[in-house]
Amino acid sequence: MFNAKYIWPGIVLFVVLFTAPFWLNANTKTYVRPEIALPEKGAECIEPRAFMAAEHMQLLDTWRDMALREEKRVYVSSSGKEWAISLQNTCMTCHSNKVDFCDKCHDSNSVDPYCWDCHVEPRGNK
Ligand code: HEC
Ligand code: HEC
Ligand code: HEC
Repeated sequence: MFNAKYIWPGIVLFVVLFTAPFWLNANTKTYVRPEIALPEKGAECIEPRAFMAAEHMQLLDTWRDMALREEKRVYVSSSGKEWAISLQNTCMTCHSNKVDFCDKCHDSNSVDPYCWDCHVEPRGNK
């Protein structure tokens, strides 16, 4: 005969240990959005903020293709505004604090765009 009094605690212990990796992970790895440095209030990005946050990589890809494959150097935004297609002269003029904007967010997301191997990055106050 087995000893019934140990079965339920045994099962509970098993379930707790078995699922531990999941709930331990859920507790410790909460993603915290970093404090990023935005340009002066009143300025507007190329497209609305939520779009930029989610799609800026695709937009930059599109820009590169427009500039280099189609020889178009002007981008018309969804609001009808015209922007010169330039990573350095357009994006980085407003987002001149690359370290506390692009880099901070990329570091916390473990992405490291290789663009700065060739493109000039803003020097800030250095
Ligand atoms: C191997 C060097 C190299 C790398 C790496 C590189 N680029 Fe470029 N990129 C160029 C060159 C050269 C041009 C052409 C410059 C021109 O004709 O205006 C260009 C043009 C562009 C343009 C359009 C014109 C401009 O001045 O912005 C965009 C946008 C662009 N690249 C985005 C990117 C992005 C985003 C990355 C990273 C994901 C990247 N590039 C990585 C070399 C590079
Ligand atoms: C005229 C100035 C200006 C230019 C040019 C500009 N930005 Fe922005 N960007 C802003 C401002 C201001 C915000 C904050 C938007 C808001 O508060 O509505 C912003 C927001 C963003 C965000 C979202 C940040 C977040 O809240 O998560 C990203 C990403 C971004 N920009 C990338 C870019 C890239 C890439 C380019 C070039 C393709 C670019 N920006 C060009 C001013 C600019
Ligand atoms: C609010 C957070 C945030 C900010 C601010 C931000 N990025 Fe990003 N960026 C990301 C994330 C997240 C990814 C990876 C997306 C993916 O892999 O789908 C990314 C990817 C990219 C990529 C594509 C890299 C690759 O290897 O695929 C480029 C290029 C890029 N960002 C440029 C910029 C530039 C330039 C700025 C500053 C003007 C900037 N980002 C600001 C979050 C941000």
